[in-house]
Amino acid sequence: MKAVVYNGPHDVSVSEVPDARIEHPNDIIVRITSTNICGSDLHMYEGRTSFEQGRSLGHENMGEVVEVGSGVSKVKVGEYVVLPFNIACGFCKQCEQGLTNYCLTMQPEPALAGAAYGFAEMGPYAGGQAEYLRVPFGDFNALRLGEDAAERQKDYVMLADIFPTGYHATEMAGVKPGDQTVVFGAGPVGLMAAYSAVLKGAGRVWVADHHPDRLALAEHVGAIAIDTSKEDPAEVVKEATLGLGADNGCECVGYQAHDPQGQEDASLTLNQLIDSVRFTGRLGVVGVFLPEDPGGKEAQNDLEAQGKIPLDYGLMWFKGQSMGTGQAPVKRYNRALRDLIAGGEAEPSFLVSHELPLDEAPSAYENFDTRQSGWTKVVLHPGSVPA
Ligand SMILES: NC(=O)c1ccc[n+]([C@@H]2O[C@H](COP(=O)([O-])OP(=O)(O)OC[C@H]3O[C@@H](n4cnc5c(N)ncnc54)[C@H](O)[C@@H]3O)[C@@H](O)[C@H]2O)c1
Ligand SMILES: [Zn+2]
Ligand SMILES: [Zn+2]
Repeated sequence: MKAVVYNGPHDVSVSEVPDARIEHPNDIIVRITSTNICGSDLHMYEGRTSFEQGRSLGHENMGEVVEVGSGVSKVKVGEYVVLPFNIACGFCKQCEQGLTNYCLTMQPEPALAGAAYGFAEMGPYAGGQAEYLRVPFGDFNALRLGEDAAERQKDYVMLADIFPTGYHATEMAGVKPGDQTVVFGAGPVGLMAAYSAVLKGAGRVWVADHHPDRLALAEHVGAIAIDTSKEDPAEVVKEATLGLGADNGCECVGYQAHDPQGQEDASLTLNQLIDSVRFTGRLGVVGVFLPEDPGGKEAQNDLEAQGKIPLDYGLMWFKGQSMGTGQAPVKRYNRALRDLIAGGEAEPSFLVSHELPLDEAPSAYENFDTRQSGWTKVVLHPGSVPA
């Protein structure tokens, strides 16, 4: 079968890989109909992770079940399902508590936790930017979709990662009706965090980035755009809140945060977030930070390449703030968010800019990676691209 394969920094191809097949009685095989490129894929694409050459990418996947193992009892052939990017067992100490983002069973390295499709340090699992995907523990991991699944793939595929992840950022930040919330990053994750805050009834939401096309989408969902190439986001937020700062905030950029000229500084958005949020406010950090970034020595510095980031901890402590971090537990939210989509209350597809055949993955990666204007979110379709 065909899959998007990582050949080295800035080099992916659509190549032949071994067919996905049932390897365990609880597996299901899904014919992928929609699979997104994510900002997390870009860390791997740029050679800024330990992702191995020759592996396939893709962790935001949905499609039609074509085969089920003998131990599968709920999911049926022919059903459309969306797969959380986290692969989880459902029965380990972490999964029992709903922490499917840090499953112990699916991560083969005993000292680590958490697994994902086509992802650095998250187990050996193949990616879903491919014709077919093997899904372990299919009954637990697959979220079944309704009769409108095939027509509304652009919305439902966002349940694999960015909609629940953006929502999780607002949960960690404790966003409530009426709150004033600041979001750093107007990439797909930041836009989904802003959208989630609006859905929760936040009174005022700011989104900071330096890409005008992405900021326009933030305004489209009712947020206030802050163009960081023109304004200091912390100053804008404090000025609008009697100097106190927002009630809470979300970091949706990660360790490759940079100034508008492109100079990287992994502490930039974290420290602006601490500065922008008021005393006792909560911070939800879903942007990815890593314990090691060997590829970042040139772009950043030796310490940051070891994950040692100069955080304004004194100010954070003085303000009594608290911070939530890490991979999102997609399964905690995906069913409720699916029902918001099904009921017409949420339409996360507003950020999709491109729907392309799988074969166009190499140029799509390049355009998304260089943040070409108008390339906000790419959905790849291994079968036919819907009309
Ligand atoms: N925690 C999770 O479970 C999870 C899930 C998905 C993605 N992520 C991570 O979330 C982050 C965002 O993902 P994405 O798909 O939106 O990526 P993206 O790369 O498309 O978007 C990132 C955005 O941040 C902006 N940015 C860069 N520096 C900035 C700064 N100093 N101030 C404000 N904005 C700045 C960029 O211009 C870009 O628009 C990535 O680190 C990704 O790996 C985490
Ligand atoms: Zn993703
Ligand atoms: Zn588990």
